[in-house]
Amino acid sequence: AYYTEEYRPQFHFSPEMNWMNDPNGLVYHDGKYHLFYQYNPNGTTWGFMSWGHAVSTDLVHWEHLPIALECESDSNGNVLEMFFSGSAVVDVDNTSGFAVPVHDKKGRGRGKKKRYTKPMIAIYTSNYPTAHTEPGGAVIREGQQSQSIAYSNDDGLTWTQYEGNPVIESPPPGYEDQWNQFRDPYVFWHEQTSKWIMVAFLAMKQKLLIYSSTNLKDWSLESLFGPENARFGQWECPSLFPLHVDGSRSNEKWVLMMAINPGGLVPASGTQYIIGEFDGSTFVPDQADIYDPTQIPSGSIVFQDFESTSSTFEDLGWTATGDFVGLGPRQASTVDVWDIRGYLGTGVFTTYLFGDVAKGTVTSPTFTITKDYISFLIAGGSYPYNPLTAGTPDDNQVSFSLVVDGEIVHSQTGGNSEALVWRSWNVAGYVGQEAQLLITDANTGPLAHIHVDEIIFSDTPKDEANWIDYGPDYYAAVPFNGLPSDDRVAIGWMNNWAYAQNIPTTTWRSAMSIPRKMSLKTINNKLKLVQQPVSTLSSLYTRTLYSRTYKTLQSGQTNVPVPAPYNTRMKLTLEFKRGTVSQVGIILRSNSTNSQETVIGYDFLGQYVFVDRFKSGDNAFVTWQPNPYPGRFVATMPTKTTDVITLNIFLDWSSVEVFDGLGQVAITSQIFPLDDSADVKLYSVGGTASSVSVDVNGIKSAWT
Ligand code: FRU
Repeated sequence: AYYTEEYRPQFHFSPEMNWMNDPNGLVYHDGKYHLFYQYNPNGTTWGFMSWGHAVSTDLVHWEHLPIALECESDSNGNVLEMFFSGSAVVDVDNTSGFAVPVHDKKGRGRGKKKRYTKPMIAIYTSNYPTAHTEPGGAVIREGQQSQSIAYSNDDGLTWTQYEGNPVIESPPPGYEDQWNQFRDPYVFWHEQTSKWIMVAFLAMKQKLLIYSSTNLKDWSLESLFGPENARFGQWECPSLFPLHVDGSRSNEKWVLMMAINPGGLVPASGTQYIIGEFDGSTFVPDQADIYDPTQIPSGSIVFQDFESTSSTFEDLGWTATGDFVGLGPRQASTVDVWDIRGYLGTGVFTTYLFGDVAKGTVTSPTFTITKDYISFLIAGGSYPYNPLTAGTPDDNQVSFSLVVDGEIVHSQTGGNSEALVWRSWNVAGYVGQEAQLLITDANTGPLAHIHVDEIIFSDTPKDEANWIDYGPDYYAAVPFNGLPSDDRVAIGWMNNWAYAQNIPTTTWRSAMSIPRKMSLKTINNKLKLVQQPVSTLSSLYTRTLYSRTYKTLQSGQTNVPVPAPYNTRMKLTLEFKRGTVSQVGIILRSNSTNSQETVIGYDFLGQYVFVDRFKSGDNAFVTWQPNPYPGRFVATMPTKTTDVITLNIFLDWSSVEVFDGLGQVAITSQIFPLDDSADVKLYSVGGTASSVSVDVNGIKSAWT
């Protein structure tokens, strides 16, 4: 039977069988939430991309419907058209002319106005693997990506493709060469201008194209946006939507949300957002939301600047041990392919410092931590992603770490080589202490490199982007159309392209995240997108299974008895205050020796929420070398000593999603425990925590 297989999510959406990726065409209509999704009807890996379809009245229980748009092949078995990601709208005013009269007795023959259907329109990318001519006459090149539409007059059950497809055949002038990297249209109705708006990406150029239309068939280009902020890898699956600021009806902002692969916070897939204004024509980002890579926070102290000098790590007193090959500025490189030039505003990319290493460690001179943050501009390491050899990792694992008192307190594994990004670590807990930076190479491959350009101390973090989720498994998120902006719900694909096709599930592959309600909230003077699981999820909660408050909690582990089966699927709320402790958290899916465990907690010294899946179970399925899967995923969340910290944790058979109380931080991570160990342990490290409470509800299956 379906939904009982090992690792099968019990309160997340997954297709009965076969492969799924991005959510598509999310639309609320006539009391039903429609979820379409990238689907392979023929297997459990990516291919034959079609639109699967499911509906729900509560975003919790889903009914599967027939495939909406099915991949097309010619009589020789050549795939002619795949239906890539896109969106759906309900054309209430019949602007498209696709409506048909409703054939019911009431509407006819009584002198009443004829009633018409409200057509549902899907706007998607036609990905054409084979050269051919479309029925409407369009001459298609092999590998072309164009935007097309299809309509349904029976609420999404059956679909007709528009005979004039594709409706946008090619990218605009100046970008003609991007004809095979043009995709993922998100369309919505823009009240103020009474027009349909489409946003789509030139994926490799990190360019957003904004189009408008009055009939969904003829589109005019309004403007372009990007690249900005996290600008590496491919930009995919954009969406643009308004939200009220701090719940005020009179103050509205627009959010541009997008998927980035690779180039996410952790290799490879990630999701960022930018807040701004949209007038129906152009998207203007709030300056507060744009992170200029050349600008460092005021009052920063430059600890080391390799970028503007020709000095090497050695010149600056770093020492190398191990089998170390070449330290120093690198010469020409394959990064040219990636068009990284100009990223620093200098026009030329000449910024490497640290050459190729094998099996080595490079150590900085000892220094004293003087400010709350240490930030660095870093690239390279593990997953160079060359568009010409996409998916072929040819590198090695390199980490950049901060050591205080002999312990690694922060660590960043290199991203892809082309992603030059800023990362900041909160070191407020270590000010005044001596520290060293370390670069280590795990040497599982022939060659490794990392590039560090600038290292600074500052009072505020040097961020590079707003991330929607700080975990590895939240991608291609898009919101529903058809809901008021105060009820904006998004769903993300709970997977990562680095290993998506290899996760150890049998019948099906991939699940969707819990649907999340999004809003805009000012936190510490910064407007942030905050998220909470939809409230209807609570219909699956059992009564409280465990509830306890500890006035103080000593260092160590305390068992939290949760009865099966809810020890593998629960909502657990953890609340605590600081005390003298350095870390408080919960250990899930653990055994008696802790050789298997998934750790979730808050680190007071580093001031971050984290999910640690180093020992969460199976990761041998990952084919990339080095393995990008094990890791600790960290979301900085500064707190004051008096703050109460709340973590809402949602554990399913093969995933965990963590939100802080306000929803400013979310971390989504898949886990594949190797046995049924499901001990739950509350823990604290480094002293006594105060006012610690744990509350557990089981979560019933939505599927059985
Ligand atoms: C994102 C993506 C989209 C594309 C779809 C194809 O995960 O690469 O850009 O439309 O998947 O399945």
